[in-house]
Amino acid sequence: CGIVGYTGRSAVAEGRSALGVVLEGLRRLEYRGYDSAGVAVLDGGEIAARKKSGKLANLLGELEAEPLPESLTGIGHTRWATHGGPTDTNAHPHLADSGKLALIHNGIIENFSDIKQELTAQGVEFLSQTDTEVAAALLGRLYRFLADGPMQGEPGAVVLTEAMRRACQRFEGAFTLLAIHADAPEAVVAARRNSPLVVGLGEGENFLGSDVSGFIDHTRRAVELGQDQIVTITPDSMEITDFFGNAAEGKEYHVDWDPSSAEKDGYPSFMEKEIHDQPDAVANTLLGRADSHGNLTLDELRVDPEVLKSVNKIIVLACGTSAYAGQVAKYAIEHWCRIPTEVELSHEFRYRDPIVDENTLIVSISQSGETMDTLMAVRYAREQGAKTVAICNTNGSTIPRESDAVLYTHAGPEIAVASTKAFLAQITAAYLLGLYLAQLRGNKFKGEIKDILSDLGKIPAKISQILEREEDIKSLGRDMADAKSVLFLGRHVGFPVAMEGALKLKELAYIHAEGFAAGELKHGPIALIEEGQPVFVVVPSPRGRDSLHAKVVSNIQEVRARGARTIVIAEEGDTDVTAYAEHVFYVPETPPLLAPLLTTVPLQLFAAALAAAKGYDVDQPRNLAKSVTVE
Ligand code: G6P
Repeated sequence: CGIVGYTGRSAVAEGRSALGVVLEGLRRLEYRGYDSAGVAVLDGGEIAARKKSGKLANLLGELEAEPLPESLTGIGHTRWATHGGPTDTNAHPHLADSGKLALIHNGIIENFSDIKQELTAQGVEFLSQTDTEVAAALLGRLYRFLADGPMQGEPGAVVLTEAMRRACQRFEGAFTLLAIHADAPEAVVAARRNSPLVVGLGEGENFLGSDVSGFIDHTRRAVELGQDQIVTITPDSMEITDFFGNAAEGKEYHVDWDPSSAEKDGYPSFMEKEIHDQPDAVANTLLGRADSHGNLTLDELRVDPEVLKSVNKIIVLACGTSAYAGQVAKYAIEHWCRIPTEVELSHEFRYRDPIVDENTLIVSISQSGETMDTLMAVRYAREQGAKTVAICNTNGSTIPRESDAVLYTHAGPEIAVASTKAFLAQITAAYLLGLYLAQLRGNKFKGEIKDILSDLGKIPAKISQILEREEDIKSLGRDMADAKSVLFLGRHVGFPVAMEGALKLKELAYIHAEGFAAGELKHGPIALIEEGQPVFVVVPSPRGRDSLHAKVVSNIQEVRARGARTIVIAEEGDTDVTAYAEHVFYVPETPPLLAPLLTTVPLQLFAAALAAAKGYDVDQPRNLAKSVTVE
């Protein structure tokens, strides 16, 4: 979910209202969830709120029909549903204390049903199925108890802060909570545990956001909160404590990314723009990471080189597209470093009693740095004594903060929910890490590392060449808009590329799609092939190792013979494939291990064009969220 809070002094906020700031923040955070949206503002001694299921646009429609009053304090939420379906009633904010308190929430309160039972027994009635409404009810009761009893006469903001502390002491799970109360007219009180929250500092106004994009238009001064902290902002102050009232401090930093890089630059969708950003994403990720002699200088990897030398196993942890980047990394790292490397979905890892010790290096891969499954897996591994390196695209996010070291990908902000440029940047960073480990451990070949770095340096221009011919693959995507199912085959590093191609199509076009290891075809999936079944085949370079190329060419023939429509991604000059391919899309030559940086691109273009032809919103596919901050 995305969360925004604002409070400003009227002299400063001239011409701007809390509602305007909050809605603008929600627009930028909508990629975090779009099942519903809602806002609440303080209106004199009252709270006024609006909420609506569906995208932010629906809420804007509602606000036009029923406007909210001008106000200087407000909160807003854009939801990715966990407890309770995406309905108006389940949308946030949830009100309590006879409508005087409004609460929004990101995360899951795991013990909500116990609290709900208790409150129900005390006569509280619930309208929604959400854990958030339960949290609001508890907070409202604590507020009332304190305001009428032990804290009578204290300012509303002080009471609300104390009520929030007490409520958080009861909550289990992961949450970011933001509350306003009619009796605390200039305050927003927020809490965080295992879920993201940043403060933005202005002059006579302050902000809260799930990430800095919630307030990037207004200030570059941000404060990172720690775990289990409560922050109360007013137009002129920010006070941070832990859940027990002990004073705490946040870490201030300057936000240096440019909000315009998060705009579409004339492309019809963020996704199209981000596909076209890929030459830069790879180039920027390579930038400054080797010296003039071709030696890698990953100074950011603050893990003692001696420790890295003693690593005897690597486990890559990630989810979704990032996990496919991990699969590519496995092939490269094992080949270059000769260190056994496993790739595991983060959510599976922790619960299977994995073998991890101080000689294990954990490499987490996450675009957002906030994926809860990956965060929890990293924490678990650290507890077992492993060293952890994060490959991450978001500065200051939680996973890198909780890791021993981080290798940032420099893809820039990725807004479309389906990952594209972050994926290529992750693969690039994983290659750098693999080469660095090989260099450290003195694995073979000085010359070769230099050669691979030089080949990597040529990748951005080669991606641009592919993009120049994008119309070819896009028109194929449009022609195939009626396809019911599409299969993808690949071998070696082409296997994760095939799975990523299938995932893109599932995510964007809601088509059944599967990626298979081409060698596995004959062991089952070939039964799926019938007349007209589209099959993409990612063909390795004919200059590749052993007879892999010939084997994949045979696989094309096998499916073709059974009536499949074959669409082949092959290296320029590979004429062996033409006889069996209905359509060939050529990518420039590159060493086989680096090929995913090229072969992925046509598959992204295909999926985006097909989904757009079906009239779908490629930036915000149904049911998904860009960063999933619940387990
Ligand atoms: C979500 C997104 C995916 C993404 C995955 C991992 O499910 O919809 O596109 O690959 O999370 O995200 P991360 O930020 O950890 O890379």
